[in-house]
Amino acid sequence: MCGIIGFAGKTEAVPILLDGLERLEYRGYDSAGVATISADGRLQVKKSKGRLSVLRELLDSQNPLSGNIGIGHTRWATHGEPNDTNAHPHVGQERKIAVVHNGIIENYLEIKNSLIRKGVVFSSDTDTEVIVQLLEYYYRKKSDLMDAVYAVLNRIKGAYAMGILCSDFPGQMVAAKKDAPLLIGYGKNKNYIASDVTALLAQTKTVSYMEDGETAVITADGVQIFDRDRFLLEKEKHLIEWDVSAAEKGGYAHFMLKEIMEQPEAVRKTISPRLADGEIVMEELNNASELMKNISRIYIVACGSAYHVGMTGKYALERLLHIPVEACLASEFRYSEPLLGESALVIVISQSGETLDSMAALREAKRKGSKVLSIVNVMGSSIAREADYVLYTWAGPEIAVATTKAYTTQMTLLLMLGVYLAKQLNGIEQEEYAVIIRELQDLPEKISVVMNDPDRYQKAASRYFNHNSVFYIGRNLDYALGLEGSLKLKEISYIHSESYAAGELKHGTISLIEPGTLVVALATYEPLVEKSLSNIVEVKSRGAEVIAMTTERIVSLIESQASEVFVIPKVHSLLQPVLGVIPLQLFAYYVALNRGCDIDKPRNLAKSVTVE
Ligand code: F6R
Repeated sequence: MCGIIGFAGKTEAVPILLDGLERLEYRGYDSAGVATISADGRLQVKKSKGRLSVLRELLDSQNPLSGNIGIGHTRWATHGEPNDTNAHPHVGQERKIAVVHNGIIENYLEIKNSLIRKGVVFSSDTDTEVIVQLLEYYYRKKSDLMDAVYAVLNRIKGAYAMGILCSDFPGQMVAAKKDAPLLIGYGKNKNYIASDVTALLAQTKTVSYMEDGETAVITADGVQIFDRDRFLLEKEKHLIEWDVSAAEKGGYAHFMLKEIMEQPEAVRKTISPRLADGEIVMEELNNASELMKNISRIYIVACGSAYHVGMTGKYALERLLHIPVEACLASEFRYSEPLLGESALVIVISQSGETLDSMAALREAKRKGSKVLSIVNVMGSSIAREADYVLYTWAGPEIAVATTKAYTTQMTLLLMLGVYLAKQLNGIEQEEYAVIIRELQDLPEKISVVMNDPDRYQKAASRYFNHNSVFYIGRNLDYALGLEGSLKLKEISYIHSESYAAGELKHGTISLIEPGTLVVALATYEPLVEKSLSNIVEVKSRGAEVIAMTTERIVSLIESQASEVFVIPKVHSLLQPVLGVIPLQLFAYYVALNRGCDIDKPRNLAKSVTVE
């Protein structure tokens, strides 16, 4: 949520800031802004409500901002509506210091009121402005910028990643981090800060991850990083493996479509390093029996689509491991009283590795003595770093706000984990294990087969895109799949949609079915297909229009009951949802396209939710 980029070099800063902001825009797109310090030491700021293109026009139409050092921000509003004044960077009343900030300052009102009593005049409604006003206040008193920065950090409560410029130090930028991601990028005679690695891909691949409590002073010639006691640190540098082209549209109309199409490759990259000689290998786990020793239950904790992966995992892991598995929403988990401790394994799933609720759940689990295993896409992200074990999905950068390839790779990896643990703990028959291994190898190819007939999904989308309300129904793994299908549709097309366990419908919701209501009936889980069929008949007899999704083996049972049928290849039931999600993603995509929606940047949303 919100994106930060900062540059200190020997060339103009603004083009680099704008390029970084463009790559970060998926993190928030309510407003954007940049600040630089010019060669003659003037702090200059330009910011505006709306997309980055509005800021670009503003910069083109007025005097461009000059200077070899600068900070930029793209905002997802929390405190204060999206408008020009609330956009970042924020500047203190003496116009000496500018700040960009991600996160929330929880005690901002108390600080704001005390500064107002001291005569400080605020111009925005944001929590961020207290940082910069307080900084100027302490800087005036202490006349040392870093003393002032530490005084501010000691006073504020909450989460922050921030970049600071001060016109008295025209060659340097200061950064600070707590509970919101921030990294340093290294170049030759140029260095960077960024909230997200994708912002830097076109500039550098060498980065350091800042930890909570650290501050940094960045100039064109070097970077110094300090711990909370102001001791200079030797930070490890990491090489980013992602390629810049992976974060570009590459000729596709939308990132979402590109990312859907990348799924065979993303799944292949996730599977193949973990298959050797007919076995699943998970070197990251060292010793599986050690990991599972004394474990009597598993919590899978995540948000949004990653939670839906957890729902699939609940069905699969319980079947494979014969212990209770619960899928939990991270935002609820941390405030409930889960039975944590040494006998609980907590699996945290996150594409970004920065989702605040998931991170908080992870910390809570560790605090209570549980082992935490994370499934994460972004290397070096906070959740990856803090978990006891990390399994990476090799999906590459995911830019579209609605997740697709991260979801399929998370699900594939979670299922592989379940099968791997079952094998290590002698919980799976060799014959079934061999079938799963073989089908894992074929999975990328089968995903391609499902995708290679876009006409089917386009046709269904153009028939139904005008509907106002859609129900997804399914049982067991199909129910978990329906949750994701429904979320995909509603978030990008703004059509109201709900997902129901098919057997639950008649306990209330079926009263909403009337002639013409669209029901997407998922019947790919073969053990329950007859029961799903009965549920389809029930909604049909109340006038519903049905799109059914099923496997090629049982299509003849279903097709007479549906107006449209999506047929997917039959694979082992645990792997079936990996194929099943593809038609649902494409259907949602084409519906949104027909409705003229902003598919990659749906309203009110942002990628990577780093506030509670
Ligand atoms: C939906 C979507 C979100 C994320 C959720 C968790 O398309 O993308 O629901 O799945 O915000 O994000 P991560 O996986 O980054 O923790």
